[in-house]
Amino acid sequence: MRVTMIGTGYVGLVSGACFADFGHTVTCVDKDEGKIARLQKGEIPIFEPGLDELVKDNVEQGRLFFTTDSTQAIREADAVFIAVGTPSRRGDGYADLSYVYAAAEEIGGLIEGYTVIVNKSTVPVGTGDEVEAIIKKVRPDADFAVVSNPEFLREGAAINDFKRPDRVVVGTDDERARERMKELYRPLFLNETPIQFTSRRTSELIKYAGNGFLAMKITFINEIADLCEAVGANVQEVARGIGLDNRIGRKFLNAGPGYGGSCFPKDTLALMKTARDNKAPIELIETTVRVNTARKQKMAQKIVDALGGNVNGKTIAILGLTFKPNTDDMRDAPALDIVPTLQAEGAKVRAFDPEGMTEAKHMLKDVAFATGPYDCVQNADAVVIITEWDQFRALDLDRMKDALKTPVVVDLRNIYSPAEMRAKGFNYVSVGRA
Ligand code: UDX
Repeated sequence: MRVTMIGTGYVGLVSGACFADFGHTVTCVDKDEGKIARLQKGEIPIFEPGLDELVKDNVEQGRLFFTTDSTQAIREADAVFIAVGTPSRRGDGYADLSYVYAAAEEIGGLIEGYTVIVNKSTVPVGTGDEVEAIIKKVRPDADFAVVSNPEFLREGAAINDFKRPDRVVVGTDDERARERMKELYRPLFLNETPIQFTSRRTSELIKYAGNGFLAMKITFINEIADLCEAVGANVQEVARGIGLDNRIGRKFLNAGPGYGGSCFPKDTLALMKTARDNKAPIELIETTVRVNTARKQKMAQKIVDALGGNVNGKTIAILGLTFKPNTDDMRDAPALDIVPTLQAEGAKVRAFDPEGMTEAKHMLKDVAFATGPYDCVQNADAVVIITEWDQFRALDLDRMKDALKTPVVVDLRNIYSPAEMRAKGFNYVSVGRA
């Protein structure tokens, strides 16, 4: 099948490469000439484990192409995917759909023969109807169907999530489109991945409801962690104890500094707005958003408290800046709130992240960036672990202790054992483990 992917951001690039790997002929289109030039040379603009090789292989096999010229790619396509950004609109939190609508206009002007237009971007309920209306207006005679097919890719595990998903959701009432979507994802159904066919609006809502629920689950365990600290309980054991109940499940119950990233913060806000606009406000999501925002300040206060209530003039070493490990993504990373709050209280911040420093340099001011974890902690008054990169789990603790001015460790991801850290002589503070 011939697939055209509009947008070579995170979702477009991963989906394009994976569809090519399924055996389809995929053309990825982007307006950004520099980006396309880099991709044509085999340079991947994002950090995602395994993506380099996947792109390289499929380009070599003649199944994956990159171009800035969408004309031919859209004309020849059996399916055109819209995978452009839907950022939060500045000021009001609504998803900005201008890129989606621009893509729809472009597609409408070019498609030939029956074409399935698939929305992969996360879009508010009803956007599929808008896309359909735009295309009909541009080309009243066009033969097409607009399908919603949300992505559930986690950064750092995106290729695995694409190739071994829990389910594929396809929202359309058009029978021909359903058949074409089945054909596109065929290798997955041979592995018995469930495919759920629904209406387009339901499919659009599944994405938001799923991310909203996960954000709520994380926020719940974060609040339980605070309670654990107050009553002398252990949040990891509580999470295990409740998670072993299949009705709850063990995943997404790791307490930490609050969720970040390109999806949860944006999608919870958009869900909140859609719900309010439709006079069906979701109070649980409203509370989740509020609690998660406040949590980052709470974490900064935890660090200040660990240093005796005053960080003025002290050097704080930060290990991990990205919103989670195995990505270079700094979008809505908790570090972006925690670091400036510490600086406002007079702290000097030195930081190290394995992949995120290039991006972090544009987003954080007056931070000294270290070349490695030991360089980062040298002579610092405290070390704070914000992101649980594997290399931070395997630090030489004696070396770290010798390097620190005072042996204070604030572990916001619970990657060390409190008993071991205390036995080594650290003043160790973590999350929800009194
Ligand atoms: C998420 C969804 O998982 C994915 O399905 C969706 O399509 C896009 O958004 P992603 O943002 O890449 O993926 O990362 P994810 O692993 O879900 O983590 C999101 C945030 O929650 C991170 O800041 C992470 O640190 C935090 N988190 C996650 C926790 O604090 N505790 C947990 O137990 C799990």
